Amino acid sequence: MSAFRKRGSVLVVLCYLGSFHVLFGYNVSREEQHDLSLNRKWTIQNSNGSLSLPAEVPGCVHSALLKQGFIKDLYFRFNDVAYRWIALDNWTYTTTFSASTELRAKQRVQLVFEGVDTVASISLNGVVVGKTDNMFRRYDFSVGQLLREGENVVKVSLLSPVVYASERSQAHSSYSVPPDCPPPVQKGECHVNFIRKAQSSFSWDWGPSFPTLGLWKGVHLEAFDVLRLIHLSTVPVYNSSLSQWVVTVEVLVDAVEETKVQVNLSLMELSTEQAFMVVFPSGQSKNTLSLHVNTSNQVKLWWPSGHGEQHSYHLSVRGTMLEGTAILRTDTQVYFRTVELVQEPIAGSPGLSFYFRVNKKPIFLKGSNWIPAHALQDLVSPADVRNLLQSSVSANMNALRVWGGGVYEQDMFYSLCDEMGIMIWQDFMFACAMYPTEPDFIETVREEVVQQVRRLKSHPSVIVWSGNNENEAALATNWFGIPVAQQPRYHRDYVTLYVDNIRAIVQKEDGSRPFLVSSPTNGVESQQEGWVAHDPYDLHYGDTHYYSYSHDCWDWTALPRTRFASEYGFQSWPSFSTLQKVSVSEDWSYGSNFSSHRQHHQTGNQQMLQQAGLHYHLPASADPLKRYRDTLYITQVMQAQCVKVQTEFYRRSQSEVIEGKGHTMGALYWQLNDIWQGPSWSSLEFGGKWKMLHYFAKDFFSPVLPVGFEDQGSLVVYAVSDLSHDLHLRTVVSVYEWSSLDPVCTVASRLVLVEGGSAEVIHKQPISALLAGCGRGSCTRLTCLLTFHLEDVNSQQGPINHLFLSSPKNAQRMLRPNITAEVQQDEMGGYTVTLQSSAVAAFVWLEVGDVPGRFSTNGFLMVTRNRTVTFNPWGPTSTQQIAQALTVTSLRDVY
Ligand SMILES: *[C@@H]1O[C@H](CO)[C@@H](O)[C@H](O)[C@H]1NC(C)=O
Ligand SMILES: *[C@@H]1O[C@H](CO)[C@@H](O)[C@H](O)[C@H]1NC(C)=O
Ligand SMILES: *[C@@H]1O[C@H](CO)[C@@H](O)[C@H](O)[C@H]1NC(C)=O
Ligand SMILES: *[C@@H]1O[C@H](CO)[C@@H](O)[C@H](O)[C@H]1NC(C)=O
Ligand SMILES: *[C@@H]1O[C@H](CO)[C@@H](O)[C@H](O)[C@H]1NC(C)=O
Ligand SMILES: *[C@@H]1O[C@H](CO)[C@@H](O)[C@H](O)[C@H]1NC(C)=O
Ligand SMILES: *[C@@H]1O[C@H](CO)[C@@H](O)[C@H](O)[C@H]1NC(C)=O
Repeated sequence: MSAFRKRGSVLVVLCYLGSFHVLFGYNVSREEQHDLSLNRKWTIQNSNGSLSLPAEVPGCVHSALLKQGFIKDLYFRFNDVAYRWIALDNWTYTTTFSASTELRAKQRVQLVFEGVDTVASISLNGVVVGKTDNMFRRYDFSVGQLLREGENVVKVSLLSPVVYASERSQAHSSYSVPPDCPPPVQKGECHVNFIRKAQSSFSWDWGPSFPTLGLWKGVHLEAFDVLRLIHLSTVPVYNSSLSQWVVTVEVLVDAVEETKVQVNLSLMELSTEQAFMVVFPSGQSKNTLSLHVNTSNQVKLWWPSGHGEQHSYHLSVRGTMLEGTAILRTDTQVYFRTVELVQEPIAGSPGLSFYFRVNKKPIFLKGSNWIPAHALQDLVSPADVRNLLQSSVSANMNALRVWGGGVYEQDMFYSLCDEMGIMIWQDFMFACAMYPTEPDFIETVREEVVQQVRRLKSHPSVIVWSGNNENEAALATNWFGIPVAQQPRYHRDYVTLYVDNIRAIVQKEDGSRPFLVSSPTNGVESQQEGWVAHDPYDLHYGDTHYYSYSHDCWDWTALPRTRFASEYGFQSWPSFSTLQKVSVSEDWSYGSNFSSHRQHHQTGNQQMLQQAGLHYHLPASADPLKRYRDTLYITQVMQAQCVKVQTEFYRRSQSEVIEGKGHTMGALYWQLNDIWQGPSWSSLEFGGKWKMLHYFAKDFFSPVLPVGFEDQGSLVVYAVSDLSHDLHLRTVVSVYEWSSLDPVCTVASRLVLVEGGSAEVIHKQPISALLAGCGRGSCTRLTCLLTFHLEDVNSQQGPINHLFLSSPKNAQRMLRPNITAEVQQDEMGGYTVTLQSSAVAAFVWLEVGDVPGRFSTNGFLMVTRNRTVTFNPWGPTSTQQIAQALTVTSLRDVY
């Protein structure tokens, strides 16, 4: 094939497909292509025919059984175990349709499945047209000759994914591919690494086992006479030798015979128009058109949230056949940005840096890790996705990692991230396991990777590809106890899959952003060590994952001063109102069967209380329900404070190198969202309700942040700034007694220059001196605490932060606060809650049960008599409803 630029004249072509409609809102020319959607009600049947029911497509067997009333809420109590049978059975999807004469008259007809979950044989009118084995691929079968007048029948026969995975592992008899099964505490299924399906669908340490089966994305027929567009992508690349942006437009088509098309590409706002004459050979082919952007216009860039606008341009693609027939009208958005992953020597440090530069600007990544929003993907609504992403941006996040044990997310997810300025670290879907490398496995993975890279590479939000989750670490530190003599084989398999195949494909398909083989990894150092570093957690290289539950989380000295923290976190329980939806009163105690059943992380429930007990009195109310609710609360207090300490440590480590470590440029805690109502590391509950951690994140990810901590007896305050400009800041520290709402003293430091994108020490003072010089010198670590904020000559910058000088459980003279609340509707239709407190109150937590929405702040330290908080509802509500639902809890209330 060839694509050549033709000065002066132009033309364009194309028809195209499914995922595209959603992604960029193309219009297909109807004269040329005839589409027939099969997204509708199908019928499903289990293998012995005892169950037969209607099922929607897109959808899955579980959601069909649910909608037809055969089963109840999947997440209710112990239903994950009760409904295990569904995925042990085989299921058949059937539908009938009639194909118009016009459609049947077309030269070619393709039956297209956007997503089949997972192992199926597909037939049309009794003839098998193809087989599937990978839920992450789109399948496309030629069916023209099989269509008939009147009724046509499509059948999709799905095998039990659990049985299939087990059979594949047995067939792989030469050596085992661990792990065989998840830990028993997860109550999951085995051998998930043998099936190309969401790895968490066989259970995870935060989620249930629901191995879905179904047609989870759309199905349709595409009929055409000349050609069809299979995919179109646009990737702007800055060519520095030309000092010019070039938009690479890739056009993948399927042509009935060799076809000449004139393609016009135009970016009107940038006075850029180019005409191309393209010859598409018969069959599938890919053409790359380079649109050189007129240099007389300043291109407005796409920036991550907090660093600028997310400017986009409108690209129009028009295709015309030589005889003048228009066969394509396509309109899409193009965002201009560059991204580099910088791994270079750092002065005074062994190892290499590891940070992202977007549009030449070093950017600290702030955010979390994304997991599937529901076990049944067809039940994830656009509104759910939008709400979760909006909650991320509202908490000052600019990045999320789409974790490799779930799914490549739907198009809308990435489009919203483009619009909101959320950078995506995109894993390929391999996690915490070894994987087979038989030819058919490699083959299906190759196609998966090609398709996913093509689908996602137009999105500026995707800033890095990453081959897998934790598999380098699993090999290097031998998670699965593989005997030394056998390790080279697993090492070879690792390189075959992630380097020789996945990396090679990504580099061929998308040279516009970096690729990492794993997370955590040492990056180029791992490569030098043969792709598996002896210590992938090395703090001098790459990213790290770090978890420690038993160590006191307030002790920052034990934290890893990493280049980039891509995972770290602590569990908590969701709120009572969320748990109530899936439980009954006998479940409402921390020791109940339900509480153990939902906990998928070995000894997780004990770990939470053990960690909380280091600093807080554990709830001990005689009223069992109050004790249960207080315990949920204390786990959230523990989690919020632990992740705060750690994240603040990473942010303040961005500008310094201490003993060779530091220059930290990313903090992505584990994990953003939940898949069900259970204990997990998430900051957002299933349904989107903010846990205390998420409110804390809004503060600890704030663009300007004071970080205070104790170092060898001294109070040290850093000013952290993600701004582009310098600030002159001072710290104002106030000392409060637990027993009084009036500060004992207030101390201000002098103004210090804080450069944009840096963390600087701004205040340092021995705590003994601070307390001795304060008021009448009556303060002790046990009776007093500190608040502090930053200000420039005009005003406060960033949030007010605080530091406890002892564990609250040891605090003396902490009073039981009497907090009253009054709810009012404001002029804007929002709601305000005016609080009055009789005493200093820690971790003040406002709850409105089931009323969807979020507060402006929550879980805060109250050192003022009055405080007004707003409530931003996510649906209709009323002052009365909020007032009735509202409860206020503070630390002193739970013991
Ligand atoms: C394509 O561009 C050329 C000029 O460059 C113009 O003559 C022609 O009409 C355009 N075709 C379409 C379909 O817009
Ligand atoms: C048919 O399969 C269902 C689901 O697996 C099972 O519960 C039922 O007992 C089977 N019926 C017969 C007649 O085998
Ligand atoms: C599912 O299909 C496989 C392959 O045909 C068969 O071996 C297995 O017995 C079937 N399972 C059930 C429950 O019928
Ligand atoms: C920049 O453009 C020049 C001239 O067309 C080309 O040779 C070079 O490969 C381009 N560089 C990149 C990075 O695309
Ligand atoms: C908890 O589950 C066990 C095992 O299923 C059962 O024997 C026991 O009665 C249950 N306890 C309660 C309080 O439900
Ligand atoms: C709590 O404060 C409110 C308002 O200030 C007051 O009316 C009420 O009596 C107080 N309750 C207690 C138990 O002190
Ligand atoms: C707190 O609010 C109450 C009621 O609105 C008001 O009477 C009181 O003066 C306020 N106190 C302070 C210290 O602002």
